[in-house]
Amino acid sequence: MSSGQPFQTNNAIIKWIDHRLPIFSLTNDTLVDYPAPRNLNYWWNFGSLAGLALVVMIVTGIVLAMQYTPHVDYAFDSVERIMRDVNGGWLIRYIHMNMASFFFIAVIIHIFRGLYYGSYKAPREILWILGVVIFLLMMATAFMGYVLPWGQMSFWGATVITNLFSAIPLVGESIVTWLWGGFSVNNPTLNRFFALHYLLPFVIVGVVILHIWALHRFGSNNPLGIDAKGPQDKIPFHPYYTVKDAFGVGVFLLIFSVFLFFAPNFLGHPDNYIPANPLSTPAHIVPEWYFLPFYAILRSVPDKLLGVVLMFASIGILFILPWLDRSPVRSCKFRPVYKWFFWVLLIACVALGWAGQEAPEGAPLYISRVATAYYFFHFLVLLPLLGVIERPKPLPASIAEPVLGGGEVWSNAAAKPMEKA
Ligand code: HEM
Repeated sequence: MSSGQPFQTNNAIIKWIDHRLPIFSLTNDTLVDYPAPRNLNYWWNFGSLAGLALVVMIVTGIVLAMQYTPHVDYAFDSVERIMRDVNGGWLIRYIHMNMASFFFIAVIIHIFRGLYYGSYKAPREILWILGVVIFLLMMATAFMGYVLPWGQMSFWGATVITNLFSAIPLVGESIVTWLWGGFSVNNPTLNRFFALHYLLPFVIVGVVILHIWALHRFGSNNPLGIDAKGPQDKIPFHPYYTVKDAFGVGVFLLIFSVFLFFAPNFLGHPDNYIPANPLSTPAHIVPEWYFLPFYAILRSVPDKLLGVVLMFASIGILFILPWLDRSPVRSCKFRPVYKWFFWVLLIACVALGWAGQEAPEGAPLYISRVATAYYFFHFLVLLPLLGVIERPKPLPASIAEPVLGGGEVWSNAAAKPMEKA
């Protein structure tokens, strides 16, 4: 979707290249002239922040790989060497470690933004599904990356999670042996995890390109959740949203720097600074914080297979979300009942995250059971039902109407509509 105005330049070289390979036109249509709804709020910053985090992860990861040794006898020491002896190694590693968490923070906010404003609904179903694919790939990449330093949590986390597949009837044990490349988590496991951890981020880049392509097919949704009616509802991406995104990047990096320079191990587990020891199981095996809600779902039921099924189903359900929500209205702003349940879902997810870090007994177990039950109830029962029984509030006639208070469309110099830009 472009502004309809062809890309123009006086530079003869750019003209020559663009005629043969319209790369400048594409960039112009995507990042400069791209017509965006004029009412996007700061929750729309998190897509570009996720993109930034992805780039930082790939760049720092490639540099780390230059000094890392994927062998069970050397991996831990090679990471310590990066931290102590390699020039700037500590900085590159701490950026990679902490940006992984910030990447998840950005993407989780991005997902909840989509849930609140109904961005997953028609015609953006494929855009949403590609997002869920990205989320799965991110989790696989993060899980394998955490194994690489070959600390106690690396080893035991890998052992617990890969062992989950043994719950599958008949073929489970064979699948686990196949995943390990042997009869325990060992050198072949570490080696393949390194190979895949290097590969998957590039697969994510590919899916992100499809994600943005799908986004540009119909353009961004917006806080009102209604379609743009005409040029007065839109403004060009540059300078309005380039500046807004740049501001978001500044705030994001500022908060990131606080963790990076003052508490670089805050989000990690101290046990991972103990070399992996297959003969000594840690008292509590705790995954990274972004896996905790799923870990809580896994352990909320006494049956291992059911736990595994529920854990995968909690993500799988997101693939069919666009068809579970029957409401014709996108944005929660106009859904007086569903709006409250959105917050209940958010609280349930936070509760699951808290329960996931506790031992599965007593209050944490009880809370994880209630929150798991609510999670599935929310998507499988509430959403389809509310779509039918909820009476949405009246929608505004256009995006421009509530933004400009009607009538002022052409006089508002601060946000020029598309034709004037
Ligand atoms: C590497 C991870 C990701 C990147 C780099 C990324 C990038 C982007 C960008 C740049 C946008 C446009 C700006 C914005 O709306 O914030 C966007 C929109 C969107 N993304 Fe993502 N995304 C990622 C992951 C996801 C995930 C995991 C989901 C959902 C499961 C998702 C769902 C969506 C949806 C529904 C939109 C349209 C939003 C709207 O127009 O209201 N994305 N994404």
